[in-house]
Amino acid sequence: MSRNKRIVLSSDHAAIDLRSAIADHIAEQGWDVVDIGPTTPESTDYPKHGIAAAQAVASGDCHLGIILCGTGQGIMMAANKVRGIRCGVCSDAFSARMIRQHNDANMLSIGARVVGTGQALDIVDAFLSAKFEGGRHAARVNMIETQN
Ligand code: RB5
Repeated sequence: MSRNKRIVLSSDHAAIDLRSAIADHIAEQGWDVVDIGPTTPESTDYPKHGIAAAQAVASGDCHLGIILCGTGQGIMMAANKVRGIRCGVCSDAFSARMIRQHNDANMLSIGARVVGTGQALDIVDAFLSAKFEGGRHAARVNMIETQN
């Protein structure tokens, strides 16, 4: 398995079933899925799961990450606090494609209480198949990365 095909998945309790569906879907595509849980449905705090996944990406252990909570918003905010992480919440495939092409996003967040499974899988496919365009977008991403 090529190292650049390694992807970390995490969620809170609100998104366990959708996370599992995404894990199965991308594993079938050949991704090396690192699912860091949680696996039980008890209420849990989304920041720790978002940060753990973000650290897996920021460290270079995983190339990309997909995180989920009820809205996708809280876990995205937590992940974006980790240096080097660019994570967007997406409820549509167009946005998921664009955050890769223009923003060089390395993490995707989805709200399990916002989108259904079919829509979520389309979003994931759009995110994973898109490529960063570089050029003028690279300078803008660098502005994000070099802010104090
Ligand atoms: C949990 O009830 C919910 O607050 C969480 O999943 C997420 O939506 C927070 O942003």
